[in-house]
Amino acid sequence: MSEVASSLQAFPAAEISSLPRAPQLAGVPPPRVLAVANQKGGVGKTTTAINLGTALAAIGEDVLIIDLDPQGNASTGLGIDRKSRSRSTYDVLAGEIALRDAIVPTAVPRLSLAPSTLDLTGFELEIGQSHDRALRLRNALAPLNASAPEQAHYAYVLIDCPPSLNLLTVNAMAAANAILVPLQCEFFALEGLSQLLKTVESVREQLNPDLTIHGVVLTMYDSRNNLSTQVVADVRQFMGSKVNDTVIPRNVRVSEAPSYGKPVLVYDLKCSGSEAYLRLATEIIQREKELRAA
Ligand SMILES: Nc1ncnc2c1ncn2[C@@H]1O[C@H](COP(=O)(O)OP(=O)(O)OP(=O)(O)O)[C@@H](O)[C@H]1O
Ligand SMILES: [Mg+2]
Repeated sequence: MSEVASSLQAFPAAEISSLPRAPQLAGVPPPRVLAVANQKGGVGKTTTAINLGTALAAIGEDVLIIDLDPQGNASTGLGIDRKSRSRSTYDVLAGEIALRDAIVPTAVPRLSLAPSTLDLTGFELEIGQSHDRALRLRNALAPLNASAPEQAHYAYVLIDCPPSLNLLTVNAMAAANAILVPLQCEFFALEGLSQLLKTVESVREQLNPDLTIHGVVLTMYDSRNNLSTQVVADVRQFMGSKVNDTVIPRNVRVSEAPSYGKPVLVYDLKCSGSEAYLRLATEIIQREKELRAA
């Protein structure tokens, strides 16, 4: 049996209706939870989580990034060094602390982070047999916006997934309202996408009936390269209106920023990468408005 199938096995559809719903304070809606996922490595998941999160915060939204990758690249890229990660997403998934207690502020106003550590590599082995193994993150997120009024209430939660369709990614999909799929503008861009969509379908059937694909974000587009243009056309043909209008260009400033522990919007606000992530944030807010109105 595949890894994903065994993660999902214990959850017959009849149980879904009895899953806990987020308790709410009067007037405080639950956050929109977007999982940034693609099992392919190096396609721009972490870069998108960090910079979309920063752009949404710059526009005025309260944003939480959840680092669900043992590599911890989102944590490092936001300047949270390993010493400052005494409480991590592993502790949250292990049920040892509340999600609120793992959250640290970042240098960006309105942007917070739940950091990860290498401990997460043990999650599958240690938690993989428990009956609620696929719902740990969803359960941890449920009370997030129901805290005291003086604490931040998040409008968006972005989950940075590891490059695998493992139990961590299934947790993210089970907890999310929608998935954001970064696709790199390269020859094999669409390879593996059908496997990702199948996993989304299984999670929808067995754990999270309202899960949708929010959008496909094309990343590392190089206008000088004919192949990039062809990939954009192919992906638009295959995924239609799910593909975001905003395409993220390949831009050296984007790749330099993480080594300074800064989002590219802080490192160089005027570069083409920053401008693209600001456009993407505006587009996502607009899509959210349309979804809410529908
Ligand atoms: N628009 C861009 N322009 C230039 N470089 C980029 C761009 N987006 C991402 N990169 C670089 O590409 C590499 C992979 O990006 P990133 O780490 O975001 O991918 P990922 O999908 O999160 O990878 P992993 O699967 O390992 O988690 C990084 O070195 C990053 O700096
Ligand atoms: Mg990553």
